[in-house]
Amino acid sequence: LDYRENFIEISAYPRLENPVQKSVEFFELMSSRRSVRRFSPEPVEREVLLNAIRAAGTAPNGANRQPWFFALIESFEIRERIRRDAEKVETLFYAERASKQCLADLKPLGTGPDKHYLSVAPALIAVFTRHGQGIDVDTGKTYYPLESTGIAVGLLITALHTVGLASLTHTPRPMNFLNDILNLDRSYRPFVLVVTGFPASPIVVPDISRKPLNKICRVY
Ligand SMILES: Cc1cc2nc3c(=O)[nH]c(=O)nc-3n(C[C@H](O)[C@H](O)[C@H](O)COP(=O)(O)O)c2cc1C
Repeated sequence: LDYRENFIEISAYPRLENPVQKSVEFFELMSSRRSVRRFSPEPVEREVLLNAIRAAGTAPNGANRQPWFFALIESFEIRERIRRDAEKVETLFYAERASKQCLADLKPLGTGPDKHYLSVAPALIAVFTRHGQGIDVDTGKTYYPLESTGIAVGLLITALHTVGLASLTHTPRPMNFLNDILNLDRSYRPFVLVVTGFPASPIVVPDISRKPLNKICRVY
């Protein structure tokens, strides 16, 4: 491999004057993110959402297969259909499918089968992951599709938060109804449904806490 032919030089990674301050500022920005379940119907500029998706598409990923697909759904009619189908599976989930343990774990979040936000929020971003061997010309065989798509969703949520948009990572199970509604074949595996828009005010969220650093990190 001749690095002069296959590699390019980039100019990135400037040395910061005060990296600690910058890291604190970024941490504080990210700490202020919460999953929001009540949205304002106020529309959001499409370009802002597309740029957030562009940012998600910069994620590191297995063998650069970029095994993700983002369906940006603004149509009220489609959001209504998604709400209807999500409420159907979630009603079954809360009534029959969820274990006692799971219901107990969800209790502090106050979630239930009512998914009004799916039709109230101005945009849904249905994220799909592409699994498998030689799926299509663009994607080919994928490597670590779940890990890669998870990182991309992290960037997506970060990008939305950075521009002041609230989000909710929603995972109605099973999510195959998204393939039918969006006319995507089964090689597109629903990963998460990101609900986004401005939060309804007042912004009320469950009173839950985050683990301190010493519970999530050990320095060796
Ligand atoms: C993969 C994933 C799936 C989730 N699924 C749901 C969901 O189906 N419904 C919901 O209300 N919240 C869902 N959440 C949101 C979590 O409940 C929330 O992130 C968690 O309670 C922490 O709260 P925070 O996001 O406000 O920090 C999900 C989050 C993740 C990352």
